[in-house]
Amino acid sequence: MIEVKDLWFKYGREYVLKGISFRFYNRILVIIGPNGSGKTTLLKCIGGLLKPTRGKIIVDGKDYWSISESERLVLRRSIIYVHEKPYLFRGSVLQNIEYPLKIRGVSSSERSKRIRFAAKLLEIEYLLNKKSSELSAGEARLVALARALAAEPKYLLLDEPLANLDQSRVSLVLKVLKEVSTRTRLIIASHRQQVLSLAEEVFVLEDGKLGKLSNDYCLV
Ligand SMILES: Nc1ncnc2c1ncn2[C@@H]1O[C@H](COP(=O)(O)OP(=O)(O)OP(=O)(O)O)[C@@H](O)[C@H]1O
Ligand SMILES: [Mg+2]
Repeated sequence: MIEVKDLWFKYGREYVLKGISFRFYNRILVIIGPNGSGKTTLLKCIGGLLKPTRGKIIVDGKDYWSISESERLVLRRSIIYVHEKPYLFRGSVLQNIEYPLKIRGVSSSERSKRIRFAAKLLEIEYLLNKKSSELSAGEARLVALARALAAEPKYLLLDEPLANLDQSRVSLVLKVLKEVSTRTRLIIASHRQQVLSLAEEVFVLEDGKLGKLSNDYCLV
């Protein structure tokens, strides 16, 4: 379970997140909200990429910023944040997907198995030998997602996972996420109406505060 307790965050002088609290123990949580409302900031706080100005992130009973560095490193491996703008390293697609597996000490044969499996799920096998710098925006998004799936984290934080995807890829990603949610807990920030079909729980982030979804909320 992930528990967010009275989370406040500011980059400069003004608070972007203003006292957010919730418990996430379902399989899929969707967070929606207008541009600049703080969705990315919230996901980065949950993923440990940003340290809250105030408040706590508790993952599986451990207070993320109060435990030792080594404990935090272990906890960090259980959560993967997939950036809003796909972030790939230099090298091939295959090397990109393989890298987090190497860091996690996954054996060579298991690595190949997981790479093939993730690539097949997202129908990107044909991209494996391509350079990451040569991908289209939609291809890069699928590769970033495949890399995260291959690492098999306990928690997966997805920031706008449907952006740049055509309709058939949107359907494919939704299908894959549904399937993956049986073994990985997902928190998804998105503007897309379609993502609501996955959600067990939806929060709306507005002006740094979290609320429930009301009927008059407008999505694209
Ligand atoms: N690195 C930063 N430095 C300063 N301000 C930032 C930084 N990143 C984000 N902000 C500001 O924090 C606020 C929330 O940004 P955030 O990216 O979390 O919003 P968002 O809900 O993800 O928006 P979008 O829907 O456009 O992705 C915005 O006003 C933004 O300008
Ligand atoms: Mg964002």
